[in-house]
Amino acid sequence: MNVLFATSEAFPLIKTGGLGDVANSLPNSLQQSGADVRLILPAYREVLQKIDNFKIIGWMKIGMQQDARILETTHPSYDMPIFLVDHPMLFDRPGNPYTHPEGYDWQDNPLRFSLFSQVASLMAIDTLNTGWRADVVHTNDWQTGLVNAYLSHEARPPKRIFTIHNIAYDCQFDFGTFQSLHLPPHWWSMELGEFHHRFSLLKAGLVFSDQITTVSPKYAREICTPEYGYGYAPILESMHHKLSGILNGIDDEVWNPATDPHLHKHYASKDKISVIRKAKSANKKALLSKLGASHAVLNDIDKPVVGFVGRLVFQKGIDLLLNSIDSLIHESNARFVIVGSGEHDLEQHLNQLKLAWPDRVFSFIGYSEALAHLLEAGSDIFAMPSRYEPCGLNQLYSLRYGTPPVVRRTGGLADTVTDKNGVLFDEATPEALTAAIHTALNYYNDKKVWSDMITHAMKNDYSWHKSAAEYIELYNNV
Ligand code: ADP
Ligand code: GLC
Repeated sequence: MNVLFATSEAFPLIKTGGLGDVANSLPNSLQQSGADVRLILPAYREVLQKIDNFKIIGWMKIGMQQDARILETTHPSYDMPIFLVDHPMLFDRPGNPYTHPEGYDWQDNPLRFSLFSQVASLMAIDTLNTGWRADVVHTNDWQTGLVNAYLSHEARPPKRIFTIHNIAYDCQFDFGTFQSLHLPPHWWSMELGEFHHRFSLLKAGLVFSDQITTVSPKYAREICTPEYGYGYAPILESMHHKLSGILNGIDDEVWNPATDPHLHKHYASKDKISVIRKAKSANKKALLSKLGASHAVLNDIDKPVVGFVGRLVFQKGIDLLLNSIDSLIHESNARFVIVGSGEHDLEQHLNQLKLAWPDRVFSFIGYSEALAHLLEAGSDIFAMPSRYEPCGLNQLYSLRYGTPPVVRRTGGLADTVTDKNGVLFDEATPEALTAAIHTALNYYNDKKVWSDMITHAMKNDYSWHKSAAEYIELYNNV
């Protein structure tokens, strides 16, 4: 079975969040399950800087745009062809795939990703005569929403799977932009891509797909409700026959505490609990030292560290954590380590806390793959108080690294964290989070209870094994 996996980011070439991780590890697992998978993504500046070699396999003329050059390269980590859509005017830029270095969205995102989508649809049907045609096209989020729409013009299109990683991001635009993109006029209709007098790339992805998946069973149910559906609940409700939730897995080689190059000391689930705890403690010291902790702190590392990694945005409930820190510092001996970047106000708040509590709050504002790995190993407790969380990968990494997570009972967090391997809470308030962290700290203070939690967290299989098989079954059924 030939599968074209279309995505706007894929680790290790380009990553802003969990989609990048999934677009690395899922295609690899699908391939190991016997599928012939190819990845297609835009040739961003950062991607071109990272690849060693490529061959040009052709050019495509899309509308009035300059030709897009199609490059083929091989995945840096395993044997899989990658197609890159090289269009310098649209993709050769600084910043991340979606935003300017100063943080605002690229204004021409509708053009950038509709062109990318059209090229992906043409690659799926082998317009360049490479001898490879997709049986299944697997698209991801709004950036690839039009792939399926373009494929609907084919007499016998490949089967089309669309995965929602986050329904809150949909890329809407007005009629003027719609016209400037020269999209087929009939797509502007309530039955197709029109959404409250605007056009939605996400809605196009939903409407034109044979099957819709999202990244956890609970989120599949949540997005059919007004609270979590961001306006799409009625549409998804009407499509529930083709909607399902398949839990994300993790790349258990990239995220493996026994081999992780970013760790100071390695450990594995088969080690004795005393060995694991000692190694975690050494990683805690390395983490605090990297973040500039004083000698006094480094000589006193038995105190618990609560860690957080992620985008500093409303979704992640980071404001709840920042608003809990003062009282937790007064009422416990916990320290806090936060790695992330995002909204200006939240970054400012974090900086204020760090200034106020130099021996209790440590942070890195920015993106650091190395610190993210070390933090998963070196924290005692991992905080993930998300308001909503389609799946969440960080709690899975923390479980694998023996760092019991404190999570809000939502989406993929509720599907992966239990009372045995972590602590769950319900209300999205600083008070509820504070109480949950106190519970975790009490467990931490009981050596036997905490060792059991670490053991429970580390013993499960969080790899793609089961979920990749579910995708293959879905492809076969469709
Ligand atoms: P989301 O995709 O919503 O951001 P996930 O938990 O699914 O959340 O995945 C986030 C991924 O991005 C993880 O691999 C996490 O380690 C990584 N990440 C997020 N922010 C940072 C950061 N500032 N530095 C390094 N890695 C980060
Ligand atoms: C999104 C979601 C996150 C999920 C990731 C990968 O970014 O916010 O919960 O884990 O996609 O599917």
